[in-house]
Amino acid sequence: MSLAAVKQAESNLLVSTYDRYPLLMKRGKGVYLYDADGKKYLDFLSGIGVNALGYGHKAVTRVMVQQAKKVVHLSNLFFHDYQSALAKKLAAISGLDRVFFSNSGTEAWEGALKFARAYAQAASSNGHKPKWRVLAMENSFHGRTFGSLATTGQEKYRKPFMPLMPGVEFVKFNDVADLEKKFDDTVCAVALEVIQGEGGVQPVTKEFFQVARNLTQKSGALLIADEIQSGLGRTGKWFAYQHYGVQPDLVTVAKPLAAGLPLGALLASNKVASAIHPGMHGTTFGGGPLACAVALEFLNTIEREKLLKKVQETGKYFLAGLSALDKKHGSVADVRGAGLMLAMELDTADHAKAAVALMRDRGVIINRTHDTTLRFLPPYVITKKNVDEVVKKLDAVLSEIEAGAQKPAGAKRRKA
Ligand SMILES: Cc1ncc(COP(=O)(O)O)c(C=O)c1O
Repeated sequence: MSLAAVKQAESNLLVSTYDRYPLLMKRGKGVYLYDADGKKYLDFLSGIGVNALGYGHKAVTRVMVQQAKKVVHLSNLFFHDYQSALAKKLAAISGLDRVFFSNSGTEAWEGALKFARAYAQAASSNGHKPKWRVLAMENSFHGRTFGSLATTGQEKYRKPFMPLMPGVEFVKFNDVADLEKKFDDTVCAVALEVIQGEGGVQPVTKEFFQVARNLTQKSGALLIADEIQSGLGRTGKWFAYQHYGVQPDLVTVAKPLAAGLPLGALLASNKVASAIHPGMHGTTFGGGPLACAVALEFLNTIEREKLLKKVQETGKYFLAGLSALDKKHGSVADVRGAGLMLAMELDTADHAKAAVALMRDRGVIINRTHDTTLRFLPPYVITKKNVDEVVKKLDAVLSEIEAGAQKPAGAKRRKA
């Protein structure tokens, strides 16, 4: 089928939830995707942070094929070899103790909210009302299901579905005074992304994160970190919170965990996990033998190929390239991020939209988030040569956009 035919068929048959790029992708290899015309694209988005090892990684593919031949799904009524092995690895790298496996990021986040409420109930004693309020962050994103939406601090995602879960209040991200004002002993959890992803790649400040940890620790509330986008090596450490020296009580991961198969995980301390008993939470698909075997191979591959160090080095090199473009181009407002979770903010949403399309024309996939932000989530295995290509093409694209821009009154002038 041609792109036009697929588009037509989907427009009649699918619920219209996605604004897709006009590309019919056929296959991937390494850091490249190939469309129906055989055109090659350097993929600096990696399925929104999922394909961290690129496409067709040999070791991962081998495990996928071998395990698929043995058994794909069993349900959580049975034991299999891989949940405990994977949990052991996740506990070792996270500083937490126990794991609940889900299918997606939002489902892991729902679990975190439920665990926080259950822990607060179990911890309340002598007729005291349990803590129940959740403090979430403005500009955050935690997923599309109801609890996740209730804690997502962006109106555009929430509005059509009101009313949402009660008991959530939003704090201005990185505003310590606002956090201190809204925190009291009714709060059961402070919930945040260590680096806000959909919100434009905005890192939490050291001070804010530390204050959140201190307040929760003192009152017996929990600190929940959403590492669905920033975790599992994306920033050059296993978890972004490890750059800060702050240890959360609950951590969610998903995206790259099973190298493209759907798998999420909620990591919990023993203290929190002790409030959960059989029957209180569960899922049909989460933690199946295929997804877990592949996830184990994904984590082992990161270690074997020393990819954390590679992400640090390539990320630094890429950030330097983006910073040089920031100095050169008047349409660039900011560059930021950590490791290979990087962003370039442009002056207008139209410019950001045009930049994504023009990069695509030149054979590079990136995306736009939070209207004005170009987001880069490449596979961890990209080379400096790949980075050079992207920076060079971005330079040309920004020049083209600036040349074509009708300069509005008061527009930012070209940088010296
Ligand atoms: C920080 C964060 N949390 C949660 C989610 C939701 O994950 P999923 O789409 O797997 O449900 C995302 C997805 O982009 C995310 O970036």
